[in-house]
Parts: sequence; structure tokens; C-alpha cells
Amino acid sequence: MGSSVANTEPILKVRDLVKDFGGLRAVDHCTLDVYPGRITGLIGPNGAGKTTLFNLISGALAPTGGRVFFQSRGSGPMTDITGMAMHRTFGLGLVRTFQIPREMKRMTVLENLMLVPAGQRGERIWASWFTPWRVARQEREIEARALEALGFVKLSHLADELAANISTGQKKLLELARTLMSEPKLVLLDEPTAGVNRTLMAQLSLSIHLASAQRGVTFLIIDHDMDVLMSLCDPVIVMANGAVISQGTPSQVQADPQVIDAYLGGRQPVGQPGGNLGVA
Ligand SMILES: Nc1ncnc2c1ncn2[C@@H]1O[C@H](COP(=O)(O)OP(=O)(O)O)[C@@H](O)[C@H]1O
Ligand SMILES: [Mg+2]
Repeated sequence: MGSSVANTEPILKVRDLVKDFGGLRAVDHCTLDVYPGRITGLIGPNGAGKTTLFNLISGALAPTGGRVFFQSRGSGPMTDITGMAMHRTFGLGLVRTFQIPREMKRMTVLENLMLVPAGQRGERIWASWFTPWRVARQEREIEARALEALGFVKLSHLADELAANISTGQKKLLELARTLMSEPKLVLLDEPTAGVNRTLMAQLSLSIHLASAQRGVTFLIIDHDMDVLMSLCDPVIVMANGAVISQGTPSQVQADPQVIDAYLGGRQPVGQPGGNLGVA
């Protein structure tokens, strides 16, 4: 594990989490910690339970067993978010990105950003319903923040383009900008670079890095791309068969015989430079 985590309290604790789908145990006593300010990678062969774990953490699915704790305040006792509905975990600053829904593809890139609920600012929005002059001011504020978020991911030139017309990589950048609009504490990204070309992948990596370095956003990222993992993530946590089998720096997990075993049967050797860590 990276060197500076020892004295820090986790922002997220997953304890003995279990999820059964009928007879299939997708997550099997999974335990892990995510540390604030870090970009933690989550890898593992196809079917390892990574996406299901994200669904359990964010509240999209209720677990069969186990607990999830989130540090929503910065210090003090953690909040038990086990089974908490997604809109509530979102309100606490725990955000998972989703693909842009079909109806939003008919809106412009900027409109997509202006629609994002303001998370922790919910109370202010509620209050503004009763005072129209505040609504106008709030809208100008939201537009300014949306433009700022677009600039952050280098999509300003596409502000008035329909979301349906932008490329896969640009959609991923827009999803990241949408996420950042809510001023999250912890962001869960599920394969953000899948299907993204090299140029936009570099832009996506840079934006994630800057969100972490400049805004203190913590990330937990599922990805298979070795370059992304090596340049962006530390530590990396490895899952297989629903549980954590290894964690450490990218080079440490690559060299771990348990990890190599877990990927055996995969189509590519582990850690092939510029290659793919598994069967995506
Ligand atoms: N909603 C579901 N219903 C039934 N089985 C599911 C469901 N979601 C995932 N699974 C199964 O759970 C296992 C883990 O899937 P998943 O979490 O998507 O793995 P990963 O993201 O690591 O590839 C797989 O065997 C998958 O088929
Ligand atoms: Mg998955």
C-alpha cells in the first residue's frame, strides 16, 4: 500500500459485504478501505463483482450482508450508509457516475450540466422556490458553475452541441463534469476509459488527476487500462470471486502471484505495457 495512508482515517470502509443474486454470490465478504485525497484503482477479472460492489456502496442495490461506512463530514464518526438509498448517499457527497440517459441526449452539453442536482446545496435550492428573484440569481450561479465545469474538462467549445452528437470520450468527460458539479467528496467511476480514444483518455486522466489534486475529490476507479492505472492510481485493490485478493501500488499488485493466478485464463498477460489488465 502507498506510504502515506498509515496515519489517515479512511473516507470509505467496506466490511464483510455480501451480495447474492439468487444462488450466485457476486460479492463475497468483501472488505476494503478507501483513503481521502487518493485515486484508488479497483481491478479484477470480468465477473469479479466490481460493478456490483459499486452498486452496493452507492445504494443502487441493497447488500445481503455486511456494512458500508462513509466519512461524510471530514472527521468524527463515520456514517453507516449500508443500504441507504442512492439519493441520500448522493446528498452526503458520495457520487457514482452513470451514462447520460437517452432523454438528456436531446439537450445541449451545457443544459446537461445545469440539470445536475446540487447535492449538499439542496436546502438552498428548496428555499429558493419561494423567492423568484433568488431563483434567477441561482440560475445564473448554476450556469456559471456549469461553464466552469465544462472548462475544467476542456469541453467549453461544445457547450451548445446536443449531447447526442458528441463522441464517447467527450460523453465520459461530460459525465465527469456532471459529477463534479455536485461538489462530491467521493466519486465512483466504473470503467471511465472504456471505448475512449487515446487523446481523450489523456484528457480524462488529467481531469481526474486535477479534480483530485486541486479540489480534493477522492476517487475509486474500476478500469482495465494499464496506462491509466499506472499513471493515476495508488493504491490499486484487486478483486476476484467477489472478494479482495491483493492491494498495493500498481507495480506491487502486478507482481503478486495471487493476482497473476486470478487473471489466468484471461486473454492477455498481466501488466503488458500499454495493454489491458484483464478481459474487459
Ligand atoms: N442484477 C444481477 N442479477 C444477477 N446476476 C448479476 C447481476 N449483476 C451482476 N450479476 C452477476 O454477478 C457477478 C459479478 O458481476 P459484476 O459485479 O458485474 O462483475 P464485474 O463488474 O467485476 O465484471 C457476475 O457473475 C454477474 O453475472
Ligand atoms: Mg463491471
